[in-house]
Amino acid sequence: MSSSGTLQVKCPIHRLTAETVGTFDKEWFRTQVTVLAAKVPAHKAGLLMQAPALRKTLLDLPQIKRVIPCEDGSRLVLLRVTEKAALLPEAVTLFEQENIELSEHTLDLDYNFWTVEDIFQAVLPEDLLEGAPAGFATVGHISHLNLNDEYLPYKYIIGQVILDKLPTIRTVVNKLDNIDNKFRVFEMEVLAGENNFVVEQSESSCTFRFDFSQVYWNSRLHTEHARLVDTFKPEDVVADVFAGVGPFAVPAGKRGVAVLANDLNPKSYEYMVGNIKHNKVTELVRAYNEDGREFIRVAARRLLDEPLPPYKPHKSIRELKAERRSRNQQPSQLNPQVPSLPPRNKIDHFVMNLPDTAIEFLDAFRGILSSERIGGRDPTGVYRKEPSSMPMVHCYCFTRELEFDKAEEDIRQRVEKAMGAPLEGEVSLHAVRRVAPKKDMYCISFRLPVGVAFATT
Ligand SMILES: C[S@@+](CC[C@H](N)C(=O)[O-])C[C@H]1O[C@@H](n2cnc3c(N)ncnc32)[C@H](O)[C@@H]1O
Repeated sequence: MSSSGTLQVKCPIHRLTAETVGTFDKEWFRTQVTVLAAKVPAHKAGLLMQAPALRKTLLDLPQIKRVIPCEDGSRLVLLRVTEKAALLPEAVTLFEQENIELSEHTLDLDYNFWTVEDIFQAVLPEDLLEGAPAGFATVGHISHLNLNDEYLPYKYIIGQVILDKLPTIRTVVNKLDNIDNKFRVFEMEVLAGENNFVVEQSESSCTFRFDFSQVYWNSRLHTEHARLVDTFKPEDVVADVFAGVGPFAVPAGKRGVAVLANDLNPKSYEYMVGNIKHNKVTELVRAYNEDGREFIRVAARRLLDEPLPPYKPHKSIRELKAERRSRNQQPSQLNPQVPSLPPRNKIDHFVMNLPDTAIEFLDAFRGILSSERIGGRDPTGVYRKEPSSMPMVHCYCFTRELEFDKAEEDIRQRVEKAMGAPLEGEVSLHAVRRVAPKKDMYCISFRLPVGVAFATT
């Protein structure tokens, strides 16, 4: 427990094998450690805890109280040394000056004291220590793991330890397959805890409720969702082609952005509708449940037919009160004609987060503003035939090109091929994250080329 008198606590080791895994016992982790303690009258304990000379000498073990009451009314202030010889000179001086007596105190440590990592390092076979699960991904009350085959014999112990140790976790699951199905959902096995996958998760000051086993959700995309939403102006309209349960659409709606949000998975749609209601953005966010290609084709026409409400600048309570006061002072202007903004009928952004195949959907943009698609109308009053009036497309994708320049070339080529036209003007590429050792996720943002939007279909 100590090296040269300085306290070091070590979790008792009990290595398991695939055969002995059923013998796991929480009692294995009981141990005792004896430390030095300063015995002082009760009124002096607080002073000692504040003393600069003891800053590096007081016990600092998580969950362990540093001041222990004694039967005679005095207090033991615990130190992080096991022998007097290990005390720092300034601590020795203080104890001598104040005539403080040192004694020993034994701490009982048990299973509850050790961290998840401590327990894994104590029970897993030596050859599994390096890659042992750590830094657990969570969504709502679920901790989700992706265990490699060699950890599978220990999966229930791993699940139980995480459940025991992480206070907000009520379910631990292991994802069973790779995410290559149509709706990007994982099959999962419950390792410990409740068989309940319906979670509540906060992101960007919004609350999302969904069944983690039936819809796509990735908490690692939090910053990417926030990044893109921040680029929208509150008066914009966004069409989210693969919206999931709404992590772009709902926070955008909260900022005043009007949104058409679509997902083909009926469960994603159902939960997205709930999230729109729960986060009070029903006026601004409309949900659809159709194939992304069809959604892209009809989105512009839909918005011309049924525009979304105009942007209402957010007013603070103080501004609203000041407005009311000034109206009261000017009776002649009781109902002033505030110029209202027109309803929103033009799409400013398309968001396409289905990185595996989103690029393949880009052909659907051909002719979205053609008179055939727009129902024989002339859309040029809304979308001028010039690049700056075209919607931006934010298309997520993967590439195996790991250098930025090569990734850019690869992605641009695939986008242009799918759309059947070169990109014009505004194009930017944002590296989102590395998803596998040789696979990166990017977001390419570009103006829809005029020729593509107005192409005859
Ligand atoms: C990678 S998830 C992204 C979800 C959400 N936008 C996010 O950022 O978390 C892709 C979504 O596309 C949906 N999806 C898959 N194929 C689709 C299609 N053909 N049309 C529309 N949605 C589709 C899936 O159900 C899933 O919710």
